[in-house]
Amino acid sequence: MDGEGSAPKLDLPEPAFAALCASVLAGIPDLQVCWSEPLARHTTFRVGGPVACLVRPRTESSLRELLKATWSAKIPRIILGGGSNVLPPDSPWDVLVVQLTLSNLELLHCEDLEAGRVRVYAGAGVHLARLLRFCVEHGWGGLEPMVGIPGTVGGALVMNAGTREGSISQVLSWVDLLDERGNPDRIHRWQLPAGYRSMGLPLDKIVTGACLELQRSPVDRIKARLREIMGQRRRTQPLGWPSAGCVFKNPGNAAAGALIDALGLKGVRWGGAEISDKHANWIINRGNATREDILGLIQHIEKTVWERSGIRLEREIRVWGE
Ligand code: FAD
Ligand code: EPU
Repeated sequence: MDGEGSAPKLDLPEPAFAALCASVLAGIPDLQVCWSEPLARHTTFRVGGPVACLVRPRTESSLRELLKATWSAKIPRIILGGGSNVLPPDSPWDVLVVQLTLSNLELLHCEDLEAGRVRVYAGAGVHLARLLRFCVEHGWGGLEPMVGIPGTVGGALVMNAGTREGSISQVLSWVDLLDERGNPDRIHRWQLPAGYRSMGLPLDKIVTGACLELQRSPVDRIKARLREIMGQRRRTQPLGWPSAGCVFKNPGNAAAGALIDALGLKGVRWGGAEISDKHANWIINRGNATREDILGLIQHIEKTVWERSGIRLEREIRVWGE
């Protein structure tokens, strides 16, 4: 359930669910709790209705207590990182959302290895952009392909975020997690079946941090690479609009954007959602899009590509509560 967005609905009206959450949370210290919180404030699509409860633990021990207590009370939970790859429901949703933006924020230089390699530890709540700045300051290379990817270290690990140049699994040593009851666990890179946009992490666990292995490199060289990659992004991606990046994974050696473009779908609108004119694998929110608008457009693309190209596109973004 955690991490997948398929939280089963409790058969209770919203106030009863909120009351249940309130009674369970009352005994747990160091939590920031927002009631009836619109997820549109926390997704890069700027879409999402109110969830009954959004909780940000301030320490890892309060996170553990939260997991244990909500597990015992059978409260459906979902984990939100930076909200840059998710599409939540528009309607009110009886779920407890856990976000690690006040905890798990460590950034540590752990050790120097031979041949200029270094081990760096990053908490799951750290924004990827902050991790990249930290690496540039210290002259540690390896994460350059990730520049421009929004969201958190936790989200990047779950998604195995990356580009054609490389993904986060290529610099990963191990991931720290908590299970559904709050018990810690560690999984090493070699134990994970990582692939394109997938790390193969257990679905019911929460990532709390990871150790990465980077390479000392001249700061000027790292900065030049970052500028080059960002320049390419600005030229080819509609970065000025709310979106969740590419909607579909690239099928095989083809590019989903090229396929959708070739079918003349650029610029097609569904309510407030539009297939970007700049990049056909991006759906943008033109200001007032609902989840139903975006989902309508996604289904229209899937149907058209299947009927006219015989290819079934696989979604990269996670549609919650579908
Ligand atoms: P979220 O969207 O919040 O969550 C994604 C999934 O991970 C959800 O299922 C969630 O439940 C789960 N999750 C999040 N944190 C945790 C945790 N701590 N423990 C367990 N589960 C967790 N992606 C790329 O790969 N390459 C790109 O080049 C790229 N470019 C983008 C550009 C833009 C402008 C945008 C908006 C998106 C782009 N993306 C890209 C997609 C997205 O940014 C990545 O998938 C990102 O890694 C998601 O991180 P997040 O923290 O926002 O995760
Ligand atoms: N193309 C078109 N029309 C379009 C868009 C693209 O013909 O409207 C063509 C391009 O000309 C190019 C090919 O399709 O020949 C690939 O396009 P691009 O170079 O833009 O890369 P992409 O495969 O669409 C991938 C990742 C991006 C990542 C970039 C940069 C996927 C699904 N997408 O995009 O990741 O930023 O490479 O390396 O793997 C994301 O996952 O959300 C994401 C943005």
